Amino acid sequence: MSLKITGAGKGIPAKRVFNDELAGFLDTDDAWISSRTGIKSRYLCVDETLTDLSAAAASQALQNAGLSPGDIDLILCSTVGGDYRTPSLACCVAERVGARCPCFDVNAACTGFVYALEIASLFLRGGRAGNILIIAAEMMSALTDWTDRNTCVLFGDGAAACVVTAGNALRYLHLSSDAGADAAVLNIPGGGGNSPFAAGKRDSAFLRMQGQEVFKFAVGIVETEMLRMLDALKLSPEQIDWLLLHQANKRIIDCAVAKLKQPKEKFPCNIDRYGNLSSVSIPLLLFEMLEDGRLKPGDTVFMSAFGAGLTAGSCLMVWE
Ligand code: ACO
Repeated sequence: MSLKITGAGKGIPAKRVFNDELAGFLDTDDAWISSRTGIKSRYLCVDETLTDLSAAAASQALQNAGLSPGDIDLILCSTVGGDYRTPSLACCVAERVGARCPCFDVNAACTGFVYALEIASLFLRGGRAGNILIIAAEMMSALTDWTDRNTCVLFGDGAAACVVTAGNALRYLHLSSDAGADAAVLNIPGGGGNSPFAAGKRDSAFLRMQGQEVFKFAVGIVETEMLRMLDALKLSPEQIDWLLLHQANKRIIDCAVAKLKQPKEKFPCNIDRYGNLSSVSIPLLLFEMLEDGRLKPGDTVFMSAFGAGLTAGSCLMVWE
């Protein structure tokens, strides 16, 4: 027994920003952004908080699962930074939707949703919870330097949620992190403060990334994770119906299509509309595929995420 997803939801800011609007204040243009990343627009918070987006996603997921907040035994939020360092974003969502249950956040960067699935499966297997709400939520616009064209054009804001309960959908899950990786490859400094005892000013600034290093890691790890899963379950690539990859760059997805030699129609994409939403990418794809009826019972769904750390996580579900 593992888990299945019984409802999903999304919370997206109202403001959609197209590439041309960025060219109004940055030395960039739609041609560069579209051709290098596949991104055409992203949604950015104006006056929404991350709690607003998360609560909207959570409420929709609960409604689709036919549950009320009182039915939830655990709330897990995947985020690299909630509205507060503490309380957790999960606590803020619980307060907003009226749930009274244990709550905590998970930070595994863009891989956070897959890490949260693993934690949820352990709670379910241990009999410690019956219904678990997982929310992935990121306000990347607050973490990027809007004078740095190398990074700010890549990201968006949003949330996606799902309700999980005991079931047999989850057949495989594998987590990893490259402990030897240099944090300089991709990081958001978390320092700050004004301690008179600190030896020098602590760094508190915006996301920094060595884009080409992340690109190489991403392309390699998706193939490695896919082959590991196929070997573990004795499956062939043709038996996988959908490959949901973290939406970091359309060119990374194109490389995966070529390496895995699978039809590109098996790789749903939403990076063109949303940009890189970190850990929100995969649950948002799931929500969209459920909403438009693409995802059907019996479909095999491989999910593969990668991010700062460098973390990676993948799983296979046979949709119930
Ligand atoms: N507009 C116009 N020009 C730009 C922009 C921009 N927004 N950004 C960079 N450039 C310029 C650079 O200054 C550089 O100019 P130069 O040649 O005169 O020095 C030129 O474009 C090429 O820059 P590169 O960094 O070499 O461009 P590259 O083709 O590697 O693309 C990118 C950069 C899109 C970041 C790519 O490396 C990438 O996608 N990496 C993957 C990392 C990623 O997606 N990270 C997201 C977060 S991490 C995660 O989600 C796991």
